[in-house]
Order: sequence, then structure tokens, then C-alpha cells
Amino acid sequence: MNIEFVETQKEAASRAGVLGLAARPGLVWEGDAGGYVASLGAGFERALERAGFEGEAGQSCSYDTGSEHPHTVVALGTGEDPSADDRRRAAGILGRKASKDASVATTLAFEGQAAPVVEGFLLSQYSYDRFRSKPEPARTDSLLLVGTGAELDSEAGTVVAEAVSWARDLVNTPARDKAPREVQRLVAEMVEGLGLRLETHDVADLEEGGFGGLLGVAAGSDRDPCLVELWYEPEESETFVALVGKGITFDSGGLSIKPAQAMATMKTDMSGAAAVIGAMAAIARLRLPVKVLGLAPLTDNMPGSRATKPGDVLTTRNGKTIEVLNTDAEGRLILADALAYAVEHGPDLMVDLATLTGACKVALGDTIAGVMGNDDSLIDRIERAGEQAGESMWHLPLPEEYRRQLDTPMADMKNIGGRWGGALTAALLLQEFVGDIPWAHLDIAGPARWTRDEHYQTKGGSGFGVRTLVELVANLAEQGFGTTE
Ligand code: BES
Ligand code: MN
Ligand code: ZN
Repeated sequence: MNIEFVETQKEAASRAGVLGLAARPGLVWEGDAGGYVASLGAGFERALERAGFEGEAGQSCSYDTGSEHPHTVVALGTGEDPSADDRRRAAGILGRKASKDASVATTLAFEGQAAPVVEGFLLSQYSYDRFRSKPEPARTDSLLLVGTGAELDSEAGTVVAEAVSWARDLVNTPARDKAPREVQRLVAEMVEGLGLRLETHDVADLEEGGFGGLLGVAAGSDRDPCLVELWYEPEESETFVALVGKGITFDSGGLSIKPAQAMATMKTDMSGAAAVIGAMAAIARLRLPVKVLGLAPLTDNMPGSRATKPGDVLTTRNGKTIEVLNTDAEGRLILADALAYAVEHGPDLMVDLATLTGACKVALGDTIAGVMGNDDSLIDRIERAGEQAGESMWHLPLPEEYRRQLDTPMADMKNIGGRWGGALTAALLLQEFVGDIPWAHLDIAGPARWTRDEHYQTKGGSGFGVRTLVELVANLAEQGFGTTE
């Protein structure tokens, strides 16, 4: 999409089919739109009144101007003192309403907050059409932002939206079309020319390296597992971050098989991996001065005849042993290996993302992620990044007294705890593999999949986590890690 800045609302109006006008409560029109609104006269006023439009965040009202440029004005409420996500959502509402129009303009970025506006607009027009014989892609090809400057900011918005869209595509891809090695190929293709170094570990490598968790989960599948290792090493960097994403390309539950209903959405169980890889691409394109290692352990979880059986014991990358009592608690097994491997590279901090537990969905519902970890200042930063990114999360505890739920006489730990607090016992298992490194874990079982179309979200894979990770790394680039603020 072509994104341009135009100085005046008047110029935008003369070029666009649809014009989105941002308004605050009391109908305070953003930028220089007041005069134009007055020229629309009583008809527009009445339309706003009938729609109950007052400029509150989330409100919108479309009005047919009766002329050609623009043929439609969309009033977009941002609320008082709009947050980045108020703008992102309003832009999403505009993007949906204007998806049939080639040229759209808006005053939403008048104050220079172009990145969230561009993100919201582009993401609202996302669709996954690969298997539709009559695809209906959005037709907008030009977005005019009223106001001056912030070109760089708008480019960042495009980069982030493209990374989120890439992650959504991968998550929405049916499991049969994304075998682990195929994902690896898609990653190689996507990162070409971005200055990222891709190393992949095939089965022989994983055996040699002692990745017993990943191999144990992969044992029941005919499709080979692999570990994707992506490096971003800019010339200048003071901070080294490791990102790890759960990449279960299909979670049948393994021999502890899931019921049909629960299995239906399990192609999305690689959303953590998709988020990490998408974020790496954006971080590289934005040339953020932070060193980043991205790891994505990729495998199916299937009940084939060689599958890991309940009662089997796996030896992981750092030598710790895990008794597998439920093969459906597989995410922690592959993350154990990947986290241990990340630790070996000595990062300053680590973040993992995983569609890890149904329990986290029970606790927080389907739009809020759980965040846990061993370092409150890191969790704080991630919460702030999430807020800016419009990705909701809530800090859950890692209670030491629950660790004993993982005790077993057979091994160093078992892979399931008791009936309650499943998101926490899963994270406590991960903690066994992070050593002393500041670490945060995001359980994205809920928000990785959006259940309906709304503002910039579309039903299906959401790409949740990409924006928070990019925001976090941008923040680390500016402020470093370990400095007290
Ligand atoms: N991938 C699932 C978690 C999940 C559930 C993600 C629903 C998204 C939506 C995970 O591998 C799993 O099966 N977890 C089990 C753990 C249990 C066996 C301890 C669960 O949550 O039921
Ligand atoms: Mn599972
Ligand atoms: Zn899973």
C-alpha cells in the first residue's frame, strides 16, 4: 500500500474516496477538520446524533456526503487523550469500512502517531485467502495521512504490520501444509535479504545435541522435527536478547489424545514460534541496535506407533530428566530444550511465547495473555511494551510452593502438576531450564487466536506477541537493560 503524508485535510478530501475524521469527546475534531465538518452541515450533525456518536473510543459513524471526493466521511472516536491502541483500533474500524475503496485518508495520525494508525489500518484489511476460489481481498491501495512528518514512524508501522501478517499467515496455514521442515523453508524465504543468519538443526543434529524433549515429542510423527535458530547481530548493540517460541505444528495430544473439539484449532499451536520469527524480521528491518537470538523448536505432536508413552522419561538438553505422564503437556518439553540451549549463549534476558495451557485461557479468557517470570523489572517492561502494542497481558505468580507438584521418584520432574493452577505449574517447569538469566514467559493460549472480526483483529491467527516483542526490543535499544529507571 502506498502511504503518503498530506499537509491539509482539504487536500486529503480532494483525493480520497473515504475520509476518516478523528474526534474526541465533545466532538473536538482532530487537526484542521473543524471547518470541513461545518461545511458538511446539518445532515452530518444529524447522522452523528442518530448514531449516538460522541467521540468516545470505539465509536464510529459513516456519512454519505453526496459528492465524489470524499463520497464517505467516517467519524472515528478516539476518546480523551487517545492511547496508541485507541488510534490503532480506530484505524482498524476505518480500514474495515473502507476496504472496497482504493483511496482512503484520515486525520488519525495528525499528532504524528503514525505507526499505530498504519498498523491498525493494514491489519484490519488482512485476510487469508489461499484456499478460497473467490478471494475478496481489500481494495485500498492508497492511504493518505493528514499532518506533516512522521514518515519514519509510518514506515515502522508498515514493517510491524507486515510482520504480524506474516505470523498470521503461518498460524492460519493448515497443519498439512506446514510440516516443521516446510516452516523452516518458509522462514528461510521470508528472512532473505534482511541480514539475519539462519541456522537449522535437523534430526541428526538434535540427536547429537541431546535435545531429548523435542525428539521425545516428535517421536510419534512421521514428519521430522527441526530447530530454527535465527541470529540478528547488528554492529552496535549493548543488550543481547533471546526469544523462544513454541512451534507445535499440530497438537493432537499424542497418545494422551485430545477430544475432537479441542483438537480442531491445534494447527495454531505454533503461534509462539510464528511471533518470534515475525518479530525478528521486523527488528532486523528496523535495524534496532540490539543483538537477538530467536529459537523455534518445531514438531508435530502425534500418536504414531513410536510415540512417547505415558511413563517414559526424557533427558533434555541440560541433562535434566522429565517423566512424561501426559503427552499432551508437550509444549514445555520442547521449550525446555530450547531454553536450555538459549542459556548456553549467555543472553542478558530471555522471553518465551507459547500457547502453553488451556488453564491460562480459563484464568484470563481468550484475549489476555498470562505473563510469568523470575524478574519483576523485566515483567514490568513487557507489560509496558504490551500496553503500547495493544496486546493485553496479566502478571501471574510463580509460587515456589507449587514446584513440589512436579516431583516424582522417577526423574528430576514430571511434566504435569495437579488439577489447579496449570498455567503456573507449566511455567514452573520452564523455570528449571532458564538458569539465573532474567526470563519472562508469555502464555498466549487465548489471544493467539482471535474468535471474531473486530477493529484490526480478524478471526483466526492473530500474530499476538509480534508487536510486544518489537516494542520491547525498541525499548531495550533506547534504555538498555539493568539500568534503573
Ligand atoms: N496446546 C495446548 C494448550 C492450548 C489449549 C492452547 C487450548 C490453546 C488452546 C497444550 O499443549 C496442552 O495441551 N496443554 C494441556 C496441559 C495439560 C495436559 C497439563 C492443557 O492445557 O490441557
Ligand atoms: Mn498439548
Ligand atoms: Zn500444545
